[in-house]
Amino acid sequence: MAHAVTETAASAPLPRHIAITMDGNGRWAAARGLARTAGHKAGLEPVRLCVRECARLGIEALTLFAFSSENWSRPAEEVASLMGLFLEAIDREVSELDRQAVRLRIIGNRHALSVRLQAQIAAAEQRTAHNTGLKLQVAVSYGGRWDIVQAARALATQCTSGALALTAIDEAHFAAALELGTLPDPDLLIRTGAERRLSNFLLWNLAYAELYFSDLLWPDFDATEFARALAFFAGRERRFGQAAGEGATALKAAP
Ligand code: IPE
Ligand code: IPE
Ligand code: MG
Repeated sequence: MAHAVTETAASAPLPRHIAITMDGNGRWAAARGLARTAGHKAGLEPVRLCVRECARLGIEALTLFAFSSENWSRPAEEVASLMGLFLEAIDREVSELDRQAVRLRIIGNRHALSVRLQAQIAAAEQRTAHNTGLKLQVAVSYGGRWDIVQAARALATQCTSGALALTAIDEAHFAAALELGTLPDPDLLIRTGAERRLSNFLLWNLAYAELYFSDLLWPDFDATEFARALAFFAGRERRFGQAAGEGATALKAAP
């Protein structure tokens, strides 16, 4: 059956930009009597898979939610081990990402991260900056509300200095000041872990995303489930507020 799902996806309209909330690592580990950290470690393989699949399908952008503004309030040991994992993962994966022509960017409040991690992020971003393949964003210390506030502050600073006229601020201008900048909005949000909420991810950019909720825990996410999400997307009629029917062809044409 997985084969049939893959075939449907291959001939159907694809999202330009996929966002994924990678949830369920802790429950995956608990179900095996393991520490939560083991679940976070196991979550790296599906990340590799998604990057490979998106690159193979020629999808323009992939944005992964790895650590939220609110996740700082978890026990210190869990936070420390997650930060260690990010450090390790960037170190270990950057060559392979580069080989796949992936452009890596970290979005979120990077000043909240250790100086060492910030330096490693900057180096990895620099190394892959000129790659023309998949645009991969990893959200670390990211919150949708934080993002909107930092954009508002950046624009207000420009207004105060006289570099920007108040009347020049429109939706496009505001969006460009957000972390995703001029990337197209995600067309599809996938959230694993059986929760049906946004948890403060990309509040502005997900305005018209199709939402695919998976009951799988993130470490169990695989190619079959990815293909199911794409098939779900292909079956949606995106209307962007238009009357039914009119919008049927609007799949790729954002308003
Ligand atoms: C997602 O998995 C990873 C992070 C939020 C860092 P969780 O750690 O939230 O796993 P559950 O939801 O507790 O199972
Ligand atoms: C959302 O998962 C954040 C990430 C996956 C990075 P959470 O586990 O933090 O979300 P809630 O607490 O269930 O809403
Ligand atoms: Mg969770």
